[in-house]
Amino acid sequence: MSTDQLSVYDAIRLRRDVRAEFTGELVDDQTLWRILAAAHRAPSVGNSQPWDFVVIRSADTLRRFAEHVADKRDEFAAALPTDRAATFAPIKIEGIVESGTGVVVTHDDRRGGPQVLGRASVPETGVYSTVLAIQNLWLAATAEGIGVGWVSFYEPEVLSELVGLPAGIKPVAWLCVGPVREFQQVPDLERFGWRAGRSLDEAVHRETFGG
Ligand SMILES: Cc1cc2nc3c(=O)[nH]c(=O)nc-3n(C[C@H](O)[C@H](O)[C@H](O)COP(=O)(O)O)c2cc1C
Repeated sequence: MSTDQLSVYDAIRLRRDVRAEFTGELVDDQTLWRILAAAHRAPSVGNSQPWDFVVIRSADTLRRFAEHVADKRDEFAAALPTDRAATFAPIKIEGIVESGTGVVVTHDDRRGGPQVLGRASVPETGVYSTVLAIQNLWLAATAEGIGVGWVSFYEPEVLSELVGLPAGIKPVAWLCVGPVREFQQVPDLERFGWRAGRSLDEAVHRETFGG
């Protein structure tokens, strides 16, 4: 799938959270590097670049993380009311092993020193910056025809231990990254009746939130 001539609007429109469409082939190193370079070009508060990327290809690590996520999925399912549990049951929430590549995006709040320009009164701007790197990664991957799936069904301590994060470095996301057969046109959660999106009209407010 070659989609490298996409405009940014095309990439935004085509981007999907991918779980079931990974082909099982590995993303090649050069493509992965371009995608990571796009992530690394994200804006960041005080130019602090608080992110790092841990690339995981070990079959053993992928399997161990997938097992942990399966446990967390079971916990979530067990806490649902019966009708929601039935809706949730067929929904796939990760493609950890099938994608063949995990990218753990981490956040270091100490990066940039004690006086990060712009973060003094809104400390979350540090994590916002790391999340922007993830969005750059996701859109660049889409433009390359590479799928990305964000997995957040995990205990941060378990993931930190699994990939050897030093104290003070937090995991923000496990991203499954790999070639895909296709991008679904409709988000999985909508296709499976879990939750539909809302219209732009509902999200845009004029002058005041109630306006
Ligand atoms: C912070 C964050 C965490 C997410 N965690 C998961 C997850 O654990 N498993 C999953 O299948 N999708 C996860 N997603 C993907 C969302 O379900 C998905 O983005 C949403 O349903 C809209 O679908 P789309 O991305 O295909 O447009 C996550 C997305 C975000 C932004």
